[in-house]
Amino acid sequence: MKRNLMIPLIVIAILAWTPAFIFGQTKQKKATTIVKKAVPKTVVTAAQIEEGKGLLAKSDCMACHKTDVKLIGPAYSDVAKKYPSNEANYNLLASKIIKGGSGVWGQIPMSPHAAINIADAKKIVKYILSLN
Ligand code: HEC
Repeated sequence: MKRNLMIPLIVIAILAWTPAFIFGQTKQKKATTIVKKAVPKTVVTAAQIEEGKGLLAKSDCMACHKTDVKLIGPAYSDVAKKYPSNEANYNLLASKIIKGGSGVWGQIPMSPHAAINIADAKKIVKYILSLN
């Protein structure tokens, strides 16, 4: 008699705990995802890259640069290999495009582009660094 009562009680206990267990797992998974998202990550959208490509085509950049061959300036694919795509490098290279400069790839200087604003220059850089 006692044994017959114990079996359904154990079954009920298992059934009651299983969803709690699964739910607990799901909750844990969600928490991990949230933490991952909270880590600041560089976001580059396809639209920004496309816009950067258009801005670059409109400027004089292609007179000195090619995508995969060194011209007067380095190939953009080499620039993309040298600099990982992140916020610090967007700022660094955007300011280089605006101010010009030399000494990183050789002694030939890059002309300044004062007419390009920082936001547009960063989009151009995002496009260049996507060529890796
Ligand atoms: C007069 C030729 C010339 C023009 C025009 C030019 N560049 Fe350059 N660019 C260079 C040279 C030369 C270098 C290498 C400079 C160095 O060694 O520091 C360079 C370097 C760069 C780099 C790498 C910078 C670094 O510090 O590693 C980027 C990015 C770049 N150019 C983008 C552009 C963009 C975008 C444009 C158009 C808005 C442009 N360049 C127009 C000649 C030019």
